[in-house]
Amino acid sequence: MSGILALGAYAPERVMRNEEFEAYLDTSDEWIVTRTGIRERRIAAEDEYTSDLAFKAVEDLLKRHPGALEGVEGVIVATNTPDALFPDTAALVQARFGLNAFAYDLLAGCPGWLYGLAQAHALVEAGLARKVLVVGAEALSKILDWNDRATAVLFGDGGGAAVVGPVREGFGFRSFVLGADGSGAKELYHTCVAPRLPDGTSMKNRLYMNGREVFKFAVRVMNTATLEAIEKAGLTPEDIKAFVPHQANLRIIDAARERLGLSWERVVVNVDRYGNTSTASIPLALKEAVDDGRIREGDHVLLVSFGAGLTWAAAVLTW
Ligand code: ACO
Repeated sequence: MSGILALGAYAPERVMRNEEFEAYLDTSDEWIVTRTGIRERRIAAEDEYTSDLAFKAVEDLLKRHPGALEGVEGVIVATNTPDALFPDTAALVQARFGLNAFAYDLLAGCPGWLYGLAQAHALVEAGLARKVLVVGAEALSKILDWNDRATAVLFGDGGGAAVVGPVREGFGFRSFVLGADGSGAKELYHTCVAPRLPDGTSMKNRLYMNGREVFKFAVRVMNTATLEAIEKAGLTPEDIKAFVPHQANLRIIDAARERLGLSWERVVVNVDRYGNTSTASIPLALKEAVDDGRIREGDHVLLVSFGAGLTWAAAVLTW
């Protein structure tokens, strides 16, 4: 069995409230709150990048769980905003913390951190690493089109980190569901090397999203992936003590909550304070729920995410 042994997270100090957009965009706090649930987000400093946020998340993990990095033999950094094409950000984390570990980045949209947990779980179970450090970190503010009201208001920056390793029988990961549908690639993109997608769609050097299509996709896969993960775990929705969904939009979260028949008390929400931090979103929310006692030892926890690719992932674990 493997599970999460330690957890940490970090969000930049600078708070940007919805009102700041009103000053220069045709938008309003009221529109943003009603359509998304977001009230404010954190924005990285000018000289603060994904590696810095990853370091801070791991430092937070170490503060909370001293010694947690002992035995870490692999580092995965899930990110959509790596500092560079190469070196991988994970190698920078490996060096910063002096780990004797392999290191690679994982690029799979917002579900990247859940994909990373699945890989860490598999690596540990297969005996390829005793423990794996899985980081999700994003400096999305660096790639936003700040003049596009349809996307600029949605995202924020942050980082989260977990150490995955062996746990007692009856605890840890119970199921994973991972999926992708690249036919939806054109709905959400940011170019890197090529100026176009294989279907000819030309890509800009700024985040583009077709919000309406991504919304429909999100509601659909949040529903199917969560139900599949719960069933694979041998549980029913009533068994889920805490539901920690990707923090993109409160309406999407509400739709998933309703389909699962869960009361709001079981749903962890912080999208109002952080916006969509992509791969950092679930660890940021998970940490809050653990800290305030909503997640306790032995609780069944459901995680789910969706994003660019298009991709999705869900997991059930016993805390
Ligand atoms: N302020 C005011 N008006 C706006 C804003 C804004 N910030 N943004 C869009 N509008 C306008 C649109 O232009 C549109 O105007 P029109 O009717 O004249 O064309 C109108 O509001 C309605 O637009 P919709 O897109 O239909 O609004 P919707 O209710 O769908 O909400 C939103 C838009 C919030 C983007 C929603 O579609 C959404 O959340 N989609 C999913 C996004 C998401 O979760 N992405 C995650 C990506 S994860 C990753 O991997 C990066």
